[in-house]
Amino acid sequence: AAAQAAARDLAGRHVVVSAGGTHEALDPVRFLGNSSSGLMGVAIAREAALRGARVTLVAANMQATPPSGVEVRRVVSTGDLARVMAELAPRANGIVMAAAPADFTPEQQADSKIKKDGDGGLTLHLLQTTDVLATLCRDRAADPSRAGQVVVGFAAETAPDRDELVRIGTAKLARKGCDLLVLNDVSGGKVFGQSSTHITVIDAQGAVAEVSGSKSGAARAIVDALSGRLIEAV
Ligand code: CTP
Ligand code: CA
Repeated sequence: AAAQAAARDLAGRHVVVSAGGTHEALDPVRFLGNSSSGLMGVAIAREAALRGARVTLVAANMQATPPSGVEVRRVVSTGDLARVMAELAPRANGIVMAAAPADFTPEQQADSKIKKDGDGGLTLHLLQTTDVLATLCRDRAADPSRAGQVVVGFAAETAPDRDELVRIGTAKLARKGCDLLVLNDVSGGKVFGQSSTHITVIDAQGAVAEVSGSKSGAARAIVDALSGRLIEAV
């Protein structure tokens, strides 16, 4: 089939997309992190830009190449991500939190490399990081000028069936205070970094889209849902 010209439904909008996985430093050479590839966030940033949005990609330790025409802000830790998102959020029309932030950070960061002590192990004490998404949604609720802003969260969950997945997702969406949540069923060893995906997009009322296939197809459905909400909000 002939490629269709992308709709310009996001012209004049600013969309901020976070992607990748944050790292929490243990010492100058080590960190705690996760293996998020950033590919889903990159696909969403590309799709939003193709549809006319000005896009800022907040990239945490991403190997993937950012799409052209997208402004990139690099971050390392969940704290960095929280600061950059808080800076960009007040002027964004849409926010997509596709990043996988580390949930815990070492209580103390060693100034010099941690050395082995004989045959002994190492006990780490970790603190919970800032919940970036929940904070963005709380700040939005307190700012009338952000009433029309649309916030999209992500969740990778293990669930025995689709109904349970949607139930877990609905509770998480309410807890975070976001408008849309993209659910990824990761039961049965479905892991990060694959080119294909299966997602369910929900709002507070239930499922609004379900897509299997390429990350670009999933990105299209996610941007459709975001764009639909932005238009409603006008
Ligand atoms: N998130 C965030 N800040 C964190 C942790 C998560 O902004 N410190 C965001 C993620 O980017 C994602 C959403 O919250 O959009 C859900 O992430 P998830 O890891 O599923 O939620 P958590 O609240 O961390 O809960 P869990 O204990 O299930 O990991
Ligand atoms: Ca988490």
